[in-house]
Amino acid sequence: MTSPTPHVVPALAYQSEIYLSGLSGTTPALPTDLTRLQALAREKLAPGPYGYVAGGAGTGATMRANREAVDAWRIVPRMLREASTRRLTRTVLGTEMPAPVLLAPVGVLSIAHPDGELAVARAAAELGVPMVLSTASSHTIEEVAAASVEVAPQAPRWYQLYWPTEDAVTISLLDRAKKAGYTTLVVTLDTWTLGYRPLDLDDAYLPFLRGVGTAIPFSDPAFRAGLAAAPEDDLMAAVGHWVPMFTGTALRWDRLTLLRDNWDGPIVLKGVQHPDDATKAVEAGMDGIVVSNHGGRQIDGAVGAMDTLPGIVAAVDGRAAVLFDSGIRTGADVFKALALGADAVLLARPFVYGLALAGQDGVRHVLRCLLTELDITLGLAGYSDVAELSPDALVRA
Ligand SMILES: Cc1cc2nc3c(=O)[nH]c(=O)nc-3n(C[C@H](O)[C@H](O)[C@H](O)COP(=O)(O)O)c2cc1C
Repeated sequence: MTSPTPHVVPALAYQSEIYLSGLSGTTPALPTDLTRLQALAREKLAPGPYGYVAGGAGTGATMRANREAVDAWRIVPRMLREASTRRLTRTVLGTEMPAPVLLAPVGVLSIAHPDGELAVARAAAELGVPMVLSTASSHTIEEVAAASVEVAPQAPRWYQLYWPTEDAVTISLLDRAKKAGYTTLVVTLDTWTLGYRPLDLDDAYLPFLRGVGTAIPFSDPAFRAGLAAAPEDDLMAAVGHWVPMFTGTALRWDRLTLLRDNWDGPIVLKGVQHPDDATKAVEAGMDGIVVSNHGGRQIDGAVGAMDTLPGIVAAVDGRAAVLFDSGIRTGADVFKALALGADAVLLARPFVYGLALAGQDGVRHVLRCLLTELDITLGLAGYSDVAELSPDALVRA
């Protein structure tokens, strides 16, 4: 289960590297303020793909609430403490990481760049940062694992399940993920049907209906067994089989035993927003949760994700790992989530914009910027180890 980190990220090295390159007239190809990437990606991508990545549910109020929730906390730095060398490494659910940061599961990445998940897997493997591969990937489980292994055989990888309505397909996907070396299972609960997303609706854009983002089920023997013709021969029939397979209404807490019986490693439930659901996850024997509202893509007018984190950390009370996403844009944001009790943080949209702008190089750039800023923020705030962080490091604005 343990995945030794292939490289320790020389986090601060990126800042020095950039300044030193400046002496020979080279500046970074992409902005180092990661919040600037979205506008650049908008210029590069067609409206459909851009809207799919950047858009949210309804009026976008939940996306705004996510940012407001992060901004509502302010870091209170401490002085004259030993923080000149820092430790960012962390082991979460048996996976050793150069920092408590993972790449969130993001589907359909070929709409952002032709190399899609392959480029992301390579960049993640270069740095030893775990990638969580989405079931809605545009490349297969095996192809993405191979891309990662080519760069670093031991690179950590987790698999995210969109839970099919047919158990044989679920078991087959889990089997494939296990065989391909994915160690932790992340089960996304909040997207059993698609949110109301006006940007996608206005463009009538849903890549899955064109067979994009369906590589994993379409290559799955159990899924294909339910088809009269292969997806290559009859795309619309395959899509017609896919829609009800991933639109679940029958999944309930007691069904988690199916996953436990068919997965050897840790299981993490993604999309938890209420302390009672976090408690239920613990009682169901789950190893972790991801506090997330899917980046505001599912419900408009929902609570900002970071506003729910302290209550959930208290409810879990150390009985399971608590991971966090939704609204993370910078290293300082990661600092805040860790200080509020998250064991690790998932980064999503910023790496997708990096991918859109520069493929593997873009994802690497985004990760190195984020980790560098986390490292610098940690030190300047007076901490020498991410494990030292607590709510004392923050104040409510
Ligand atoms: C384009 C896009 C596709 C996504 N696809 C998935 C997915 O396939 N599985 C999943 O669990 N979450 C998916 N998510 C949600 C992310 O994992 C994450 O929860 C969310 O993006 C966090 O919000 P943020 O990007 O605003 O920080 C997706 C998000 C985006 C932006």
